Amino acid sequence: MYVSRFNNYETTTTVEKKPRGRTKTLSLDKPGFLEFFSGSGLVSHALARHFSLLWANDICPKKALVFCGNHEREKFHRGSITAVSGLDLPPAALSWASFPCQDLSVAGKAGGLQASRSGLVWEWLRVMDEMPAPAPVLVAENVVGLVSRQGGRQYRQLHAALAERGYRVGAFVLDAVRWLPQSRPRIFIVAARQTVKTPPELLDAGPNWLHSKAVVAAARGLDDWLWWKMPEPRPRSLSLSEVVDWDAPCFDDAAAQKTLALIPASHWRRFLASGLQAAPGYKRIRQKRQVLELRFDDVAGCLRTPQGGSSRQYLVIREADGARVRLLTVDEIARLMGAPASYKLPGGYNDVYKAMGDAAAVPVVAYLARHLLSKLAAALSSEERALTLKAPNPGGPGQAPG
Ligand SMILES: C[S@@+](CC[C@H](N)C(=O)[O-])C[C@H]1O[C@@H](n2cnc3c(N)ncnc32)[C@H](O)[C@@H]1O
Repeated sequence: MYVSRFNNYETTTTVEKKPRGRTKTLSLDKPGFLEFFSGSGLVSHALARHFSLLWANDICPKKALVFCGNHEREKFHRGSITAVSGLDLPPAALSWASFPCQDLSVAGKAGGLQASRSGLVWEWLRVMDEMPAPAPVLVAENVVGLVSRQGGRQYRQLHAALAERGYRVGAFVLDAVRWLPQSRPRIFIVAARQTVKTPPELLDAGPNWLHSKAVVAAARGLDDWLWWKMPEPRPRSLSLSEVVDWDAPCFDDAAAQKTLALIPASHWRRFLASGLQAAPGYKRIRQKRQVLELRFDDVAGCLRTPQGGSSRQYLVIREADGARVRLLTVDEIARLMGAPASYKLPGGYNDVYKAMGDAAAVPVVAYLARHLLSKLAAALSSEERALTLKAPNPGGPGQAPG
């Protein structure tokens, strides 16, 4: 039994391990799940307490290495979703898709769900349509831009497509900052087939803590909308200072001077007055000048995929006679995503940053699995349950990562 480095959040404190450190994911009494766009496997890791991984897919060879280093390799199928046929997939209780966000994020171009990357969500639905028995519970996860942009128009397209297929659907926002010192709001769309007898305690009469203004606006007037309900988590106990490697090497004097010079004077003043030992920050362009903007709420900014050097997060550390500065370390990045210390992260700095920057935070998914998804799976009809608990037939051997 491995005990996670962090024990402040439920459901990830202990993780059963197989030999060679892989997450134990198959148990015949757990409902099965399929993971599309599985990336580095943090979703599969977080679901493992309540669900058995049957099949996973991603196109990226580097992320495949991370996935296969931590999960059963034979369940993983590398390649484009466009080449996946639903006829080859095992029946499952749950189908999860953390589909690409580039066309939906605030920073991205405005292509939305019709663009080539975020539009892959339609491929997920195409695969579901091809399955003789599509999963009765679906989850799609993405950035909040999916509901907040264009007054929810993007979200409504997806909602309509799910409702047409016989699902009742609700969306909500969970921010990883409730569990981890990282601001990472994400939208979760949870759909249950109309045949699922949803327990009344999972539903509210109207918006609750899960529903942002943008979600409420996007939901207005929609058929088959559900106000999902879960208990509010306890206040976070993990602070940024517990995540920081205080002894990690910092930039040399020349590089430090150059980087610290980018901090606006107002941010220096706030840092000095804050009493904080360390402040994270991103480089940004403001009025055509590059600046290093710090935050002072003892929380890291949202990790994202590094494109070039500009989207990597810095840490400024106070010293008696000034300050040191460096990039976040690989271990800090993994901790900020809630990955356990045993989670294998092969590759160089940028590979790890990319694998984690794209991922879903472990305690968020674990919370959702515990308080909503496992309860929906338990409410499946006996026929649906029997089908999704059947020994898996994962459609050919798993493919090697690289
Ligand atoms: C938002 S990330 C999901 C990350 C994942 N949930 C995790 O925890 O690491 C989107 C993923 O979609 C994958 N992807 C992009 N295009 C794809 C395609 N055509 N077929 C399959 N996967 C694709 C990317 O490699 C990336 O890992």
